[in-house]
Amino acid sequence: MHKHEIPATMRLSLLLVVVAALSARTAAQLPLAGGGGGALKPDFYSQSCPRAERIIAEVMQTKQMANPTTAAGLLRVFFHDCFVSGCDASVLIASTQFQKSEHDAEINHSLPGDAFDAVVRAKLALELECPGVVSCADILALASGVLITMTGGPRYPVPLGRRDSLSSSPTAPDVELPHANFTVDRLIQMFGAKGFTVQELVALSGAHTLGFSHCKEFADRLYNFRNQGGKPEQFDPSMNPSYARGLQDVCRDYLKDPTIAAFNDIMTPGKFDNMYFVNLERGLGLLSTDEELWTDPRTKPLVQLYASNATAFFDDFGRAMEKLSLFGVKTGADGEVRRRCDAYNSGPAVAATIPKM
Ligand code: HEM
Ligand SMILES: *[C@@H]1O[C@H](CO)[C@@H](O)[C@H](O)[C@H]1NC(C)=O
Ligand SMILES: *[C@@H]1O[C@H](CO)[C@@H](O)[C@H](O)[C@H]1NC(C)=O
Ligand SMILES: *[C@@H]1O[C@H](CO)[C@@H](O)[C@H](O)[C@H]1NC(C)=O
Repeated sequence: MHKHEIPATMRLSLLLVVVAALSARTAAQLPLAGGGGGALKPDFYSQSCPRAERIIAEVMQTKQMANPTTAAGLLRVFFHDCFVSGCDASVLIASTQFQKSEHDAEINHSLPGDAFDAVVRAKLALELECPGVVSCADILALASGVLITMTGGPRYPVPLGRRDSLSSSPTAPDVELPHANFTVDRLIQMFGAKGFTVQELVALSGAHTLGFSHCKEFADRLYNFRNQGGKPEQFDPSMNPSYARGLQDVCRDYLKDPTIAAFNDIMTPGKFDNMYFVNLERGLGLLSTDEELWTDPRTKPLVQLYASNATAFFDDFGRAMEKLSLFGVKTGADGEVRRRCDAYNSGPAVAATIPKM
């Protein structure tokens, strides 16, 4: 097949995804505790809540079957939680009349409601089984692992014992999270500042084998594109032309309807595999940051490795996810085990929303 020819099956799968209205609840953030996760261990709940992992797995399985976008949504929520002030469930805190939280910024990053709903369901089930024991941060970490495996990805260890944050900042996500228009330099810098290598950056980016992106995240590549010299082009010439034209068509009304989105991995959108990297080699990367991993000499060899060797990708992705899941975790008095994931145990949020038992 010619390099720039899209097979019919692929054209078919260039589906338009209308994203259900967001029902995201989110919130807060805090300064990075230096937590390295040293105190965490896989059997943290073996005495206090031995069925915790099973319960979370069951809830996630049910949710994923009912709504197949859950896995991608939850994985992205987890990444955002960890990168902003550590894996401490600060992303789950709902803003209140009295207090803004990460949620305010995160709704602008369009985190999907299904992921939040899955966490709420898991928390409810856990509170019935062993009240006040399992943290929301651990639920996010375990749920991510379960859903990655469920969609075909690698299984990796998830040490437990995270505590939930006592704060959540509405402005932190805009500073701490990468944007689709970043250069590779900036990506490397941002991940590096948090202790992640170039190889881990590329491996973690493989999460874009799942889920979708809204048109505004890549519209710059499709309309009014200007090359380095400022010369106008029909679309970003690094894109496969058929793919670019298909996306132009899918997104043509995106300004009127901002819910229009396209699959990150056009070939196997719901399957956790190494297709994301294969796509990059063919000009089928969706976000500009995806595409650049293929053109930058620092990241290209890793894209080639992962495209040609799924085992190498799974191994590296699993290791990087385990590392991500330990990033900035809080233990002891630095956190609490929330009774509900969207509110602190004390404070206006709880008083305002929990009925007296
Ligand atoms: C390398 C820098 C990254 C950038 C610039 C980036 C950017 C984005 C953007 C713009 C979207 C589309 C959001 C939307 O339109 O709703 C997205 C989706 C997604 N991202 Fe990333 N991301 C990065 C890294 C990661 C990492 C490290 C993970 C997880 C380990 C991840 C997981 C996801 C997932 C699963 C989706 C699909 C979400 C869904 O379908 O609901 N991303 N990303
Ligand atoms: C989110 O977007 C809305 C509408 O564009 C804007 O008014 C608001 O200030 C944004 N919030 C943050 C925290 O960026
Ligand atoms: C990159 O995207 C962010 C968020 O969409 C936006 O605020 C910023 O202005 C963009 N930067 C550039 C250089 O286009
Ligand atoms: C693929 O990667 C795995 C894990 O790194 C390695 O053991 C294996 O030899 C590689 N396979 C090929 C064909 O290079």
